[in-house]
Amino acid sequence: MGDKRALVTGGAGLIGSHVVDLLVREGWKVRILDNLEPNTHKRGKPAWINERAEFIQGDIRDRATVAAALDKIDIVFHQAAYGGYMPEIAKYVHVNSLGTAQMLEVIREKNLPVKKIIVASSQAVYSEGAGECPKHGLVFPPVRPIEQLRRGDWQVHCPICGEITKSVPTPENAPVGGETVYGLTKVDQEKLVLLWGKQIGIPTVALRYSCTYGPRQSMFNPYTGVIAIFCTRLLNNLPPILYEDGEQTRDFSFVEDIARANLLAAESDKLDGFAVNVGSGRGVPIREIAETISDALKIDIAPEARGEFRPGEMRHLTSDTTRTAAAGYKPHVDLSEGIARYIDWIKAQSDVRDYFSEAEKILKSKGIVHRVEVVND
Ligand SMILES: NC(=O)c1ccc[n+]([C@@H]2O[C@H](COP(=O)([O-])OP(=O)(O)OC[C@H]3O[C@@H](n4cnc5c(N)ncnc54)[C@H](O)[C@@H]3O)[C@@H](O)[C@H]2O)c1
Ligand SMILES: [Zn+2]
Repeated sequence: MGDKRALVTGGAGLIGSHVVDLLVREGWKVRILDNLEPNTHKRGKPAWINERAEFIQGDIRDRATVAAALDKIDIVFHQAAYGGYMPEIAKYVHVNSLGTAQMLEVIREKNLPVKKIIVASSQAVYSEGAGECPKHGLVFPPVRPIEQLRRGDWQVHCPICGEITKSVPTPENAPVGGETVYGLTKVDQEKLVLLWGKQIGIPTVALRYSCTYGPRQSMFNPYTGVIAIFCTRLLNNLPPILYEDGEQTRDFSFVEDIARANLLAAESDKLDGFAVNVGSGRGVPIREIAETISDALKIDIAPEARGEFRPGEMRHLTSDTTRTAAAGYKPHVDLSEGIARYIDWIKAQSDVRDYFSEAEKILKSKGIVHRVEVVND
């Protein structure tokens, strides 16, 4: 048996740090590789980095650093990534796609005895959530065309007959594409890891996380995490901003559940070789998220929908969790408990500023947030 030795890349971040804590509790020897990306860690090294883990501050893009971090490692939990809706195209590809490719190359070149690689993928690999057409049943609609969104038509139409579809859970065999640069690099990461693992005979798992939230979610990176953004807006007495009409839905996972899914993927062989959804199986309208948070905070400010949208964004995404459930995964923390726990945490943080307003200006100037041309109500 002996100790199990893990490398958690991105182990200072939201998900990575919870994976680290769980592994340490389970008796693993843990090493972290994290460059403390300034967009995420505006105040430097976070205090929550587990003291019982070895911490290497370094960049996944640096070959020598990656080689040193992989020394004597059994299992890699590859969480490091550049995320959100940032406008830097090349940086996503560099950190996410190339960083992953290079890590695999180092393992092969040095013939390292890595026994498994688990890579953090995302539901962002799907173009749009699965739909049910009244005539055609289960369909996989493509991303909504920008012309349609400009007209303020937010619905998802059947790709065959154009009828409005109803959102249903999206299974893993739905087409993956990636309609944002981030999504594209998540497809790269999971394909690189899975196909390379098959070639070289190392078990691999790609976990397609749903929207993950919880304590330690960066308050400084306003491009990710709607729950974090809405909390900071409300704590600054500002209304949460809803894109589209606020009725779009997402599947939310509490970060400790996502950490448990990583442990399961490491310890079980049931998910080996697959890209699997990890989510709650429940779609929640974003407007409801805003309302739940304002209720929990007792700050009575209604969210605002101003007819803005982000091209490439999906309308609905609920994870079909059949496969992970069959492997033994079940989320423990529901949305109301998870939001309460996030709020407890954020209230204990000093200086909860609204970074969203500044970020929003950048997003608009870069053409990432658009506004409808004719508002039809
Ligand atoms: N949070 C979500 O909702 C969500 C959903 C789906 C997938 N994911 C994926 O899960 C993983 C973890 O996300 P998170 O929410 O914890 O994000 P996070 O930003 O909190 O953590 C990512 C960590 O990676 C580090 N990092 C970034 N670039 C790096 C580089 N070049 N070298 C080394 N370290 C680097 C950052 O400093 C950070 O600590 C990512 O791969 C992300 O794409 C997250
Ligand atoms: Zn149809």
